[in-house]
Amino acid sequence: MKTVRDIATLREIVEGWRQVGDTIALVPTMGNLHQGHMSLVQLASECAERIVVSIYVNPAQFGPSEDFENYPRTFENDRRRLSRAGVDIMFAPDSDEMYPFGQARMTRVSVPGLSQILCGNDRPEHFDGVTSVVSRLFNITQPDVAIFGQKDYQQLVIIRRMAADLHVPVRILAGPTFRNKDGLAMSSRNRYLSDDERLLAPVLHRTISDCRDWILGGDRDYAKLEAAGMAALADAGLEPQYVAIRKAGDLSMPEPKSDYLVVLAAARLGPTRLIDNVLIEPAHSARMAALK
Ligand code: PAJ
Repeated sequence: MKTVRDIATLREIVEGWRQVGDTIALVPTMGNLHQGHMSLVQLASECAERIVVSIYVNPAQFGPSEDFENYPRTFENDRRRLSRAGVDIMFAPDSDEMYPFGQARMTRVSVPGLSQILCGNDRPEHFDGVTSVVSRLFNITQPDVAIFGQKDYQQLVIIRRMAADLHVPVRILAGPTFRNKDGLAMSSRNRYLSDDERLLAPVLHRTISDCRDWILGGDRDYAKLEAAGMAALADAGLEPQYVAIRKAGDLSMPEPKSDYLVVLAAARLGPTRLIDNVLIEPAHSARMAALK
């Protein structure tokens, strides 16, 4: 595996692959890799001949009071893991490479509407930072396929919209959320949890799974279900920010008959902000109807 820090070298190598007809998958990350990230790398290896994993802790997507400085950076470990997984290039640029005109003056890519709801309420600049860096990564690598986690569901929907709206010729695939045994979704930020908080954290996944089960059981009073989810999180000692039932395709409000839904939630647990979501796909609803 090659570690590449500059765009010119990355382009040169990718161009060579293209000339021999190899397809290219990109997996964007901020490093501190865990099994969730590695499951996306595995997916990448199943759908392209060459894999580029980017590691860049993107300052543009952190708010002023967020954890940019303290975000875990585990470069050597990450490098070893990616190398063992058969990745071709670890692309690890610095900020001068990514934002050559400086962050204050950088060209921003913004997806209005979708970026302001749900997590965007609590983190107003966050998704503009994400789309600004992911659009650059798409331009730099020009991958055939880019892989993102379902774990960050709103991010996934926004990136899909951005790519469609900017006519980026890339196929975007979503990898399922990789979880600990107790249901807690793997996340770099889980390491901020104290032992007691870690024991409480799985309540987030249990709560949204309960919401999903109620919906599959036929309850379509979404507002009531969201309120019940908020109450369950608060009772458990979390500080819920939202529990939302939305259409999975575009995060708009569902109708009673909608059958492709997502239940999303965000909550603070001490200083840590946790997010999670579960999908309700038409196949689920059909199976539940058949059981009735
Ligand atoms: P990061 O948090 O490092 O996540 C990188 C990718 O891994 C994202 O697509 C995320 O959804 C996915 N991921 C995280 N936890 C996962 C889990 N438990 N199971 C499966 N996939 C998981 O998301 C970002 O970085 C950044 O916003 C980025 C897209 C790289 C732009 O800076």
